[in-house]
Amino acid sequence: MSLVLDAAAQDLLFREARTANSFSDEPVTEEQVQAIYDLVKFGPTAFNQTPLRITLVRSPEARERLVKHMAEGNQAKTAAAPLVAILSADNEFHEELPQLLPHFPQAKDAFFSERPVREQSALVNASLQAAYFIVGVRAAGLAAGPMTGLDFAGVQKEFLDADHTPLMVVNIGKPGENAWFPRSPRLDFDQVVTTV
Ligand SMILES: Cc1cc2nc3c(=O)[nH]c(=O)nc-3n(C[C@H](O)[C@H](O)[C@H](O)COP(=O)(O)O)c2cc1C
Repeated sequence: MSLVLDAAAQDLLFREARTANSFSDEPVTEEQVQAIYDLVKFGPTAFNQTPLRITLVRSPEARERLVKHMAEGNQAKTAAAPLVAILSADNEFHEELPQLLPHFPQAKDAFFSERPVREQSALVNASLQAAYFIVGVRAAGLAAGPMTGLDFAGVQKEFLDADHTPLMVVNIGKPGENAWFPRSPRLDFDQVVTTV
């Protein structure tokens, strides 16, 4: 009763949404990915810095190069998913800040002239955006399978550069057969929330 989002949308995004471990053959189109991005780009980040970068792995050749860097238990599903995305944090996000924060372009130099500060900020904010992305995949009626079981240095070398830190790989598509592990319990409100 306290939520204004209708119950079907709550189910689609959270209650019924599951992490998929197998996928149908139905392709994920460029239009779907564009629609997902155009929705989730509005999720907030500090200074509107927007450091998430998304590499869509579509060609069979690129897929093969990615699979070899995945943990053994993640290889088969990464090879079979209709679409796979590498999510990374751009540690040079400050170059876009004058575009992204037109009312305060000085933020680029005032706050983000030092690389370690940018790396910390990019990690937090790109991770937030990765979460928005997963929820956006669900909003498109698709299932996401995020994974951090991978060789990060290998993925960075193979697909990215020194300025981009890989965060996770996400399998995307319609769920296939036996797609779910049993639903694991979540912490209750009282275990998590403290009021002072
Ligand atoms: C950042 C992240 C990394 C994950 N890494 C892996 C992974 O490497 N392999 C895997 O099988 N599942 C991985 N998972 C899946 C989680 O175990 C799963 O999302 C969680 O247990 C909730 O499952 P549910 O959505 O079905 O309730 C990952 C999930 C997230 C969000």
